[in-house]
Amino acid sequence: MTHPLRLGVNIDHVATIRNARGGDHPDPVRAAFVAAEAGADGITAHLREDRRHIIDADIERLSSGLTIPLNLEMAATEEMLAIALRHTPHAACLVPEKREERTTEGGLDAAGGHNHLAPIVAELANANIRVSLFIEPDPAQVEAAIRLGAPVVEFHTGRYANLSGEEQTEELRRIADAAALAAKNGIEPHAGHGLTFDNVQPIAAIPQLAELNIGHFLVGEAIFTGFEESVKRMRELMDLAR
Ligand code: PXP
Repeated sequence: MTHPLRLGVNIDHVATIRNARGGDHPDPVRAAFVAAEAGADGITAHLREDRRHIIDADIERLSSGLTIPLNLEMAATEEMLAIALRHTPHAACLVPEKREERTTEGGLDAAGGHNHLAPIVAELANANIRVSLFIEPDPAQVEAAIRLGAPVVEFHTGRYANLSGEEQTEELRRIADAAALAAKNGIEPHAGHGLTFDNVQPIAAIPQLAELNIGHFLVGEAIFTGFEESVKRMRELMDLAR
């Protein structure tokens, strides 16, 4: 079965629970296989500088064992670039990273960071890794992604997820407009962060979006229904919205 809107399942927080006790359970790689069986089109994992959830050995095992594409989320640093070039994941999503943040707060400043990002985008692209930039749904950031030659952008939906009412509708419009602008310029738009069963459908209905990356909610919901069921339900809601 082919899905018009791909679901990338982020397994970071399976690793968060594992790391709380320092052992090897629950195994995020096992979760990746369950997600694939349940209808995920790809697996996303963020190897952070402080290794607070995913660790290098997870990336190693995902790289050698997965049968669906791996999207490596990474900061634009020399260390992460070397790791990406060693494992050559299907895709790499460049994200801003601050050591003290609880999660990825805000998008990458692709406009202000052009000179730093350009060689990293080029090196990843030369290694046949599909580069994505995690940006705010802002036309200036889309223009910057065009200048950088990124084939993909992922719009940060965190603000949308935290708003309600008219403000949320306005943010949804910004995401839809940014997705249309990206697509018009040959960039494949993705979206993610803070998506849940309750808020995913208006995002999934944006016709230009090709992929959603979702993690925290799916892992949390798995406590009540199991991981397979939570991924399946998200897949179903996304398909119904199209
Ligand atoms: N996309 C990117 C680039 C992210 O950094 C994250 C969070 O790690 C997600 C998607 C998934 O967000 P959430 O875990 O809130 O679903």
